[in-house]
Amino acid sequence: MNVTQREYALELDRNDPLARFKSMFVISDPQMCYLDGNSLGRLPKSTIAAINDFMVDEWGPQVVTGWSHWVDQAQPAGDLLGSAALGASPGQILVCDTTSVNFYQLCLAAIKARPGRKTIITDAANFPTDRYILDGIAKQFNLKLVIINNEDSAIADHERITTQVLAPYLNEDVALVTFQVIQYRSGARTDMKSITDQVRAIGGLVVWDASHAVGAIELNLDANGVDLCVGCTYKYGNSGPGSPAWLYVSKSLQSQLQVPIQGWFAQDAQFEMGPIFERSLSIRGFQIASPPLMGIRCVQTAFTMIREAGIDAIAKKAAIGTQMMIDLYDAWLAPLGVELNTPRDPKERGGHISLGHPDAAQICLALRQISNVIPDYRAPHSIRLAISPLPTSYTEVWDGFERMRDLVASGRYSQIQESGSRVT
Ligand SMILES: Cc1ncc(COP(=O)(O)O)c(C=O)c1O
Repeated sequence: MNVTQREYALELDRNDPLARFKSMFVISDPQMCYLDGNSLGRLPKSTIAAINDFMVDEWGPQVVTGWSHWVDQAQPAGDLLGSAALGASPGQILVCDTTSVNFYQLCLAAIKARPGRKTIITDAANFPTDRYILDGIAKQFNLKLVIINNEDSAIADHERITTQVLAPYLNEDVALVTFQVIQYRSGARTDMKSITDQVRAIGGLVVWDASHAVGAIELNLDANGVDLCVGCTYKYGNSGPGSPAWLYVSKSLQSQLQVPIQGWFAQDAQFEMGPIFERSLSIRGFQIASPPLMGIRCVQTAFTMIREAGIDAIAKKAAIGTQMMIDLYDAWLAPLGVELNTPRDPKERGGHISLGHPDAAQICLALRQISNVIPDYRAPHSIRLAISPLPTSYTEVWDGFERMRDLVASGRYSQIQESGSRVT
């Protein structure tokens, strides 16, 4: 059957082993095509009950006595993420803080673990918070920040980092290399294992940012020999706006690294309240402060769904869904002058694709205002469109693409005015 027939998507939905999950999410407008689960995931119905239960059964009646069982919940929540989505055995992940804070903590810990080395490597297409934090670290500690120019198609294919792209930058002065697993803008995937091995061979450490990958692809952190990784939970993790992030430190590194912010939750004998900081040598040694219990409850309900669905089935649906998007792009959007900025090989992408157009910002606004399709815009000219495998159906994606074709072909998007919001 031809992808341009709606029946194509309906057939994929009929055969989708994950189809039943969509009804477990709050969908207040069934006509809306929500293709932005890579930015903020939908709300699971079970989360509403879990938060209510927490207030009614725990916080309300238990007040401060609740801390006896709340105190260490960053760890079991981390273990749940490890088994559901990250391919990590217990005791290596904490659900805590934000991606930015966790990134700062692990990057500085990695740099300090390589004394004498003064070079940090990242890429120009990396997410802004990562680049800004690295810039701050480099200035504060007088280090050299090397930024690979992978925004130029002559150097990298759709921003993709490979061992060939990285090789010329590596030498014995490199302490830290850090990349995203999935590029936030282009959606290109970087192979964690080959890059980690390559950097380990010159004695450096890699910190991965898996924010755009977690809940969309298999990460297999243990099997890939990853040392350090961070990510968020509000995208394909469906854990809510501002939900706590996570950090992963491999067992082998936990006793060697020292994070810069020495908070009381990292203290070995925490409730002795002693005068000297003595770090727990376990994963708790990477926790700064009190766990955000309500956020953790959101993470638990959402990642329990991911565990039930199976990350292998989720990754498969992301690959099929993004392939359908690319096929629809070829049929409908390429002839209208839209560019594809994401690799065509499913092993080289995740759950979103990126389309380029000189009027991308206006097209995105018009999709929201005229077509009831929710994409997002990323400067300078990218339209990102995602399939979030649990809450999104193939037909929802297909309908969104059909409406986008009609909008771009009609030129009506040019009538749209600024949204007035500083969020894109
Ligand atoms: C790749 C990546 N890293 C970091 C962040 C920032 O996360 P936070 O605001 O939780 O620190 C984001 C946010 O979207 C992101 O996409």
